[in-house]
Amino acid sequence: MSVPPAIAEQLRRLLDRAHAPYSGVQVAAAVEGPDGRVHYGVNVENAAYPQGWCAEASAIGAAVSAGQTAIARVFLTSNLADPIWPCGGCRQKILEFAQAGCEVVTLAPDGRTDSRTIEALLPLGFRLEPKTKRP
Ligand code: THU
Repeated sequence: MSVPPAIAEQLRRLLDRAHAPYSGVQVAAAVEGPDGRVHYGVNVENAAYPQGWCAEASAIGAAVSAGQTAIARVFLTSNLADPIWPCGGCRQKILEFAQAGCEVVTLAPDGRTDSRTIEALLPLGFRLEPKTKRP
């Protein structure tokens, strides 16, 4: 699966907003809901290293804050030469909101793309039955 050109352009533009002064790895992520709305985020590092977070977490936070609690597709890019895949923690964060078959699409700076379903990236992921349902 490829990345829609408008989303690819916005992801590339957002890389400059990543706060990655310690690793130098700039990451931008987008999550798309079933209604086509797209929410973006970047990684935000911290001088106390474990306090930083990934671009996917920022994008998911933006989506949930906007009332978007289902994810149909995730898009990811970085300033590293090769396409990157979400870290383990982010796979779990994506799974929390992913529709069945949700694709994670990764884009390299040279335009190469690759994609996998969240089920392929996180087989046997941890799930809990919610105690409360959304209205
Ligand atoms: N990073 C992400 O933003 N997403 C990932 O899935 C992998 C790693 C960030 C975290 C950190 O700021 C930098 O990349 C280097 O690990």
